Amino acid sequence: MPQNNAPTVGIDDLAVYVPGLYLPLEGEFARSRGIDRGKLIKGIGIERMAVPDAHEDAATMAAMSLLLLMKRSRLQPEQIGKIYVGTESSLDEAKAMGTYVIGMLEQVYGRGSFRECGTVEMKAACIATTLALESQSYWLAGEDEDKVGVVIASDVAKYPLASPGEYTQGAGSVSLLLKKNPRLVSLEQVYGHFTRDENDFFRPAGCTTAVVNGKHSNQCYLDAVTGAFDSFAARAARKGIIVPAAGQCVTDFLDHLLFHIPYPRMVEYASAAVFRHDWKSCQRSRKVEEEIGPEPGEGGGKDAAALPAAEAYYARRFARSPQFLEAFSAKVKDTATLSRQIGNIYTGSIYLGLASLLELDRLQGGQRLGFGAYGSGSSALFFSGRVEPQAEDLPGLGLMERLVERRAITLAEYEMLHEGRKEKSVVEPRREFVLAGIDSQGYRHYEFVE
Ligand code: COA
Repeated sequence: MPQNNAPTVGIDDLAVYVPGLYLPLEGEFARSRGIDRGKLIKGIGIERMAVPDAHEDAATMAAMSLLLLMKRSRLQPEQIGKIYVGTESSLDEAKAMGTYVIGMLEQVYGRGSFRECGTVEMKAACIATTLALESQSYWLAGEDEDKVGVVIASDVAKYPLASPGEYTQGAGSVSLLLKKNPRLVSLEQVYGHFTRDENDFFRPAGCTTAVVNGKHSNQCYLDAVTGAFDSFAARAARKGIIVPAAGQCVTDFLDHLLFHIPYPRMVEYASAAVFRHDWKSCQRSRKVEEEIGPEPGEGGGKDAAALPAAEAYYARRFARSPQFLEAFSAKVKDTATLSRQIGNIYTGSIYLGLASLLELDRLQGGQRLGFGAYGSGSSALFFSGRVEPQAEDLPGLGLMERLVERRAITLAEYEMLHEGRKEKSVVEPRREFVLAGIDSQGYRHYEFVE
């Protein structure tokens, strides 16, 4: 809890929008790309990827998740002081996506209804939404007019056809309602950062798909998240929030660990790296070493050239150790449930993890959550929050039903949508925002379709 009588701020509620189309990764897709089904379902962990229809983009999805949030939280436009949008699917080099989103919402709530609301678009690859949340939490703590804040994540994760990134795509939006005295998660206001210039993933201006150095991006993610975890642990100790006694580890104080989920398997790699690192500092690793042998370089192999291979081998053995499997199953595994059916939604995927826990009824009042966000380029932010008792009474998000109602698309339909060659929607839009057209100046026109 925040010290020195500062008001508690945090996530009061959230809403998730997922497009109504999906591509099954088994069958036609796996066959056409010559990839074994086991690799996609087990090795990567994705079964279905959400695909935006021809009338959708990152702004319509953002507007949809905000509309869902406002309806479910009975929120009126004049209550919202700020809307920050985290995205790496920017539609304009200058105009903030939030202004398009406000334009759409005003078609429902009335023209001018959001005029006193501030909005900014934040870009930092997949970590932008978390940096927006951190920033808004400080604004909210000092806000004296009873306003609330909204942080929206909205992205279309897109890689070239037939590339190794292709099966880690997806699309969707999450809107978070930030408030004083929140009902869902109160933030402990301890943020541990890690930043390092990297070329793991980037999208030069004008390109519609990212340049990705896949294996390198996995390693950058692991380095950054463990670095941010260390920074968090030191700050949490200094603030007296997590002070482990002898024999205790920092992760003992975390009931769930939520990570950025570019693909579900990555949360296994990330949590293995964090648990291994944490257990080393509190001597618990000795028990693991009794099972799988010493860490490389500590009697395992002294040859520097052989170290990377020895390290990869040890990381695999650690990930199969009973100690890790038990911690993973208790504290991490369930966070990836929705991502298996949706795929990567870039900057919102860590909050899809929160939605998974909510939908699975895994949140209990008093639990502490540890969030490990990552953005390529690269930076990570680790922070914590406490589940509020009222979280248990929040209505479900209806996501499991939404996922079942979606329509499967063929490989040909997917490829046309991916390449922007499908002009007519696969499913006729109903009660949703649509991109109606882009005019000769490049301004985008959106409509709400009844
Ligand atoms: N059955 C089960 N598992 C299988 C398999 C099969 N038939 N074939 C392969 N696998 C496993 C591999 O052993 C590996 O698991 P392991 O790490 O436990 O060994 C896993 O599937 C992934 O396979 P791999 O060949 O290592 O991956 P890839 O070359 O397909 O690349 C990414 C994976 C993520 C690097 C690639 O999809 C990518 O570049 N994605 C975009 C960038 C990204 O998401 N980066 C993440 C950090 S932000």
